Formats: sequence, C-alpha cells, structure tokens
Amino acid sequence: MTQALIELSNLGFAWPGHPELLDVPAFRLEAGETLFLKGPSGSGKTTLLGLLGGVQTPNRGSIRLLGQELTQLSAGARDRFRVDHTGYIFQQFNLLPFLSVRENVELPCHFSKLRAQRATQRHGSVDVAAATLLAHLGLKDPQLLGRRADSLSIGQQQRVAAARALIGQPELVIADEPTSALDADAREAFLQLLFAECREAGASLLFVSHDQSLAPLFDRHLSLAELNRAAVVTEV
Ligand SMILES: Nc1ncnc2c1ncn2[C@@H]1O[C@H](COP(=O)(O)OP(=O)(O)O)[C@@H](O)[C@H]1O
Ligand SMILES: [Mg+2]
Repeated sequence: MTQALIELSNLGFAWPGHPELLDVPAFRLEAGETLFLKGPSGSGKTTLLGLLGGVQTPNRGSIRLLGQELTQLSAGARDRFRVDHTGYIFQQFNLLPFLSVRENVELPCHFSKLRAQRATQRHGSVDVAAATLLAHLGLKDPQLLGRRADSLSIGQQQRVAAARALIGQPELVIADEPTSALDADAREAFLQLLFAECREAGASLLFVSHDQSLAPLFDRHLSLAELNRAAVVTEV
C-alpha cells in the first residue's frame, strides 16, 4: 500500500475532566483524496481536526501525517510541521481584520519557508502566487488586494480564507464547516473552486460539515460516528 497522507490508529482523546470523546481504531486519508466527514454539532469534528494539526495531543494512539508521527514531535516542531504541510479554512475564517487581503493570504509564507519557496517556484513570487490564487477563486479585482479583510462580504472573506489555506501548496487542506454562512448555490460554486485548486496542487481535502447535501461532490464521505467508537448511539 502507498503511504497514506493521514493515518490514525488507536486514537483516544478526552478533554480534561470529560469522558472520552474520540476513540478511533483506524482511519486513512489518501494523497489527493477529497473526503467529506459529517457529524452533528458537538460530536468532536473540530477536536479531531485539532488533533490532526497537532494543536491538541491524543491521550493514546498514533497520528501520522505524511509518515511523520506527530506525537513524537515537540509542541514547537508540531507547529512548524502543521504550517508547512497543512492549510486550514476555519468556520469563522479567522482572517486578521486589520490586515489587507494580500497580507492575509500571504501569512502562511511568513511562518513557513517551505510554503514561501513553493509559492515562489510556482508563480515567481509570493505576491503573484497570492494574486493568482485569489483570481482563481473568483476575486479578480486587483484593487481588492489592498483592502482590509474586514471590509469584504462573507463570500469574499471565505475565498480569501481558502486562498490563505492553499498558498504554497500544503499537502493537506482542512476545512471546518466553511460554507455554513453561504446559501446553497454559493456553497456548491465555492466547493468546485476549492476542488479545482486542490487538484491542481495535488492536495488532499478533508472537509467537515453537518450539511449532508454536499457529500456526493466528494471522492468519499463518512460519518464521524462510523470512525468513532466513543460516539453516542443516537448519532446517525
Ligand atoms: N477547548 C475545549 N475544552 C473542553 N471541551 C471542549 C473544548 N472544545 C470542545 N469541547 C467539547 O468537546 C465536544 C466536541 O466539540 P467539537 O469538537 O467542537 O464538536 P463539533 O466540531 O463536532 O461541533 C463538545 O462537547 C465540546 O463542548
Ligand atoms: Mg466544530
């Protein structure tokens, strides 16, 4: 078998003072795969994404990303590994409101030499990489690059967040319910753009949502309850 992009085994996690939230015997995400992971609010989706990014550490088990065992890295090394190899699109986008659109998109390249190098190799400079990604995601107006992030509409902010996740070609793009603020048509259009960019970069996409209607658009869809033996039985 080829190396998985993500491989979890025997993963256990509990928030301090709470019963075990995640008990995942096995999970794989293949390189280049798009996966839709659904689950109701409170079922542990965001917690699982935090473990994959090395923001949280599990109580037991193994988390391999690109063959690297995250639990063997120091907190600082995990942070560097995350920014080098993972792009995040958060539910609330988490743009820095006082920075420009361009500065927001370029941020990962300030924290990761690897991503700055990849962006420069592909586009000639980090600036051109940011402008190109934004244009591919439907933000073509060059004037927009200099605007403060908080002056944009929700739909525009979402595209900026996607461009920030994609810049410098991380192998894994993680999206945590990024479409919940959009209407159905805008949601699907956004996803098609995101797929196209992930395909072009060869990135895997792990997309988390409670909105089942998006699931058929992905290579594979799963419910967290299928992976998680600690899931409450009422969950479908
Ligand atoms: N930082 C935290 N400290 C303690 N409990 C938390 C924390 N974050 C989430 N939880 C709890 O973990 C459970 C799962 O939350 P979460 O992973 O955010 O679910 P989802 O993303 O599926 O809505 C919830 O019961 C939530 O209250
Ligand atoms: Mg969540």
